[in-house]
Order: sequence, then C-alpha cells, then structure tokens
Amino acid sequence: MSIAMATEAPGAFQGTLTDKLKEQFDAGLLSGQELRPDFTIAQPVHRYTSIDHAIWRKLYERQAEMLRGRVSDEFLQGLATLGMEKDRVPDFDQLNETLMRATGWQVVAVPGLVPDEVFFEHLANRRFPASWWMRKPEQLDYLQEPDCFHDVFGHVPLLINPVFADYMEAYGKGGLKAAGLGALDMLSRLYWYTVEFGLIRTEQGLRIYGAGIVSSQGESIYSLDSASPNRIGFDVRRIMRTRYRIDTFQKTYFVIDSFEQLFDATRPDFAPLYEELRAQPTLGAGDVAPGDQVLNVGTREGWADTEDI
Ligand SMILES: [Fe+2]
Repeated sequence: MSIAMATEAPGAFQGTLTDKLKEQFDAGLLSGQELRPDFTIAQPVHRYTSIDHAIWRKLYERQAEMLRGRVSDEFLQGLATLGMEKDRVPDFDQLNETLMRATGWQVVAVPGLVPDEVFFEHLANRRFPASWWMRKPEQLDYLQEPDCFHDVFGHVPLLINPVFADYMEAYGKGGLKAAGLGALDMLSRLYWYTVEFGLIRTEQGLRIYGAGIVSSQGESIYSLDSASPNRIGFDVRRIMRTRYRIDTFQKTYFVIDSFEQLFDATRPDFAPLYEELRAQPTLGAGDVAPGDQVLNVGTREGWADTEDI
C-alpha cells in the first residue's frame, strides 16, 4: 500500500526520528535567516522557484478535482473565502488579511516541525505554524514531513470556520496542560484522529475534513471508498486510547456529526480523564471495541502488520 502524506501530531515523532527531524528543521532554515524565539521566520517568498510554484499548482489542481463531493462544505467555503492562490505558493501575509478578519487566526512560517510546547503556544494564540518549503517533484505522493502544501492547503481553510477555529485554540491550550500532566500521548491521538484524519457525517454522506486526508490523493479515495478501514463514531475517550499509523493509511477513521460536537468534547477539564484512561489498556489502530458506534467494520485488506504508534 502506498503511503498517504506527511502530517504532524504533537509527540508523534519523539524518539527515534528526533535527529532526523532536527536535520530537516535545520535544512528549512536558510542561511542568514533569523530564527525568532518562537521558532518562526519571515516567509522567504522570494526564494520559491518556478518548480515550487509548479508543484503547488499540480497538487492544488489534483486535490481540488479529487475533493469535489468528498470534502466537507466548510472546507470548500474556507478555500473560497480565503481566495487561496491556485497557481503559486500563497503569500502568508495575504492569506492572513482574510483569515485575521474572519477568525483572528494567522499562518506563521516555520522551517519545519517545532517542539511540542512551541506548537501548542502558537495554537493557543491562534497562530498556525506552517512549513514554508515545498516538497520536491519526486515527493508528489509522499513525504514524511509536513510541507507548505500540506500545512496551508490542508489546514488553513478550516481555520475560517469559527467553531473549528475555537477547537484548534482550545487544543493548543489543552496541549500546554497535557504536557505538564505527562498526557501528550493521549492528546496527540485526539489531534491525529480529528485534525489530521477526521471524517464528518453529512446529509449527503461521509465527508473528509482532516488535513492529512485532504492533502493526499490516495487517502482522499481510500478513507471514503475503501472497505478496508473501520469507520467509527467519534468518542473522545475511545480516541485517546487508540494508537495510530504514521507510515500507512489509517486502519480506523473516527466520524464526527458536527464541528460543534468536536468543540464540546474539548470543554471539560481533561485531567481526570487522563487519570482514568491511563489505567486502561490502549487499543490497536485497527481494533473494534465494545461500545463502539460502528459505521462499518473494515475488511482489513492490505493492512500492514507492523507496529502502531
Ligand atoms: Fe498536519
């Protein structure tokens, strides 16, 4: 099975990949460029090449076509409202004029994945850190680290939606608390299964809203059409116990009914929840558990038998 697309979940890459990510971060920092204390840089718009713009255009065209009838209306509305560039890598300052006016969010440029606490601090203050650089032509379908297309095309349109915008801010605040409680593993699963790989139920059928799916041609089809993965109703407790995949398509997708449901789920203080869940075993990425609101049980076809994260 081919691999979906890079995504970032806080804490997901801790451990063996740390050195690689540090290397990658350094590579995204141009010589002579100032790295600010909050790990942001000025977007080096003059450094994009004609190849960078061509890759943006190709990915944009491909996904815009692919997502028709597959992605949530809120995403499409966000894309239209932003007036996101189709032909060239967007200038973040231009996007921010509309975004700030709509929900007070802004996109800030970073050289690569930033430390968890820095990431949460940005989200808690309505700043979305986006890699400034574009993937290479040979990485059209897969790269491990989030590039500008994933971060901007995948994540930014929903930040126009007031409820989702509030959810992301609440998530950042929750992340700062979780870091102090040693619960980042559980909170990261929530990010993964919603912000990156979430599906939403609509009157027209299931739709995609997760950025990891939205920015991936293969997973845009697989997540909705394949009989292989499980599709299970959103349940914050269940999700916080569920391991996930970073190197293959997901074995399970969790389905929300509305963005309000998502935001409401983050209202309670998670501290007692972490306590309770810590005492329970985790679930594998493809497990179906008692009490699940199952939309469909996957056939498991093509599932990798390597370890879940
Ligand atoms: Fe992402």
